[in-house]
Amino acid sequence: MEIVRTIADLQSKIKAAGTTEVGFVPTMGALHEGHLSLIKRSVSENVLTVASVFVNPTQFNDPSDLERYPRTPEADCALLASAGCGIAFLPSVEEMYPEPDTRTFDLGTVAEVMEGRYRPGHFNGVAQIVSKLFYAVQPKRAYFGDKDFQQIAVIRSMVRSLNLPVEIIACPIVREASGLAKSSRNTLLSAEEKTNAALISQPLSCSREFMRQGAGVAETAAFVTRGLQNEPLFRLDYYEIVADDTLLPVKDWNESAHITGCIAVYCGKIRLIDNVHYK
Ligand code: PAF
Repeated sequence: MEIVRTIADLQSKIKAAGTTEVGFVPTMGALHEGHLSLIKRSVSENVLTVASVFVNPTQFNDPSDLERYPRTPEADCALLASAGCGIAFLPSVEEMYPEPDTRTFDLGTVAEVMEGRYRPGHFNGVAQIVSKLFYAVQPKRAYFGDKDFQQIAVIRSMVRSLNLPVEIIACPIVREASGLAKSSRNTLLSAEEKTNAALISQPLSCSREFMRQGAGVAETAAFVTRGLQNEPLFRLDYYEIVADDTLLPVKDWNESAHITGCIAVYCGKIRLIDNVHYK
């Protein structure tokens, strides 16, 4: 695996590979099995897989979140190599932002709801860095984890509005044995918080069964939030049951062919997100 730090080196290595079948996995590092599943999927579908490891400052609306975000570049490179990645791109902030990025993207309502309400500017920052990375790598396919369900909708919206010739591929959430969705932020949880965080996925997965037994949307949402309110370490930002295409809340299961429940919850000081597909 080649490790490169500049866009010029990245592009010359991609050119030397002599293929347009390039799969791309953008990451912020602190890699775990969720990321590796994206790399493996890309390796199986492309001639060359490129991964980026870059903690993007413009998508953090909370400076302390940016400061404490885990950074493990050596371990990341070893994991990427072991999963079959061809090129790892680890740029500096100056390389990606030689001057401040003042672009404001019109990402539509998918960027305004849920995370958009709680993390102002976050998705604009994601669109800034992912568009820059797409211009640099020019991948045919790009792979994202379904844990960041709303992020995928936002990136699809950005790709459509910029006419970028890249296919966005969503890959299933990878979970710990406890059910906790794998996340780089999990490393910031204390042992006690991690045990508690495992409880987030339980009402989510049980609520799917509850829905299948005939519960309505409001009842299903109440089932999930009740399940979390009993735990004093949790502070719920939102639990919303939304249509997959618009990300707007539904009141009835018949309103959309594909419906997902999305949660954001603080476990101690660490904010975690997860989701469940109902249909
Ligand atoms: O999902 C992430 O890790 C980040 O938001 C991404 C897509 C790498 C952009 O910085």
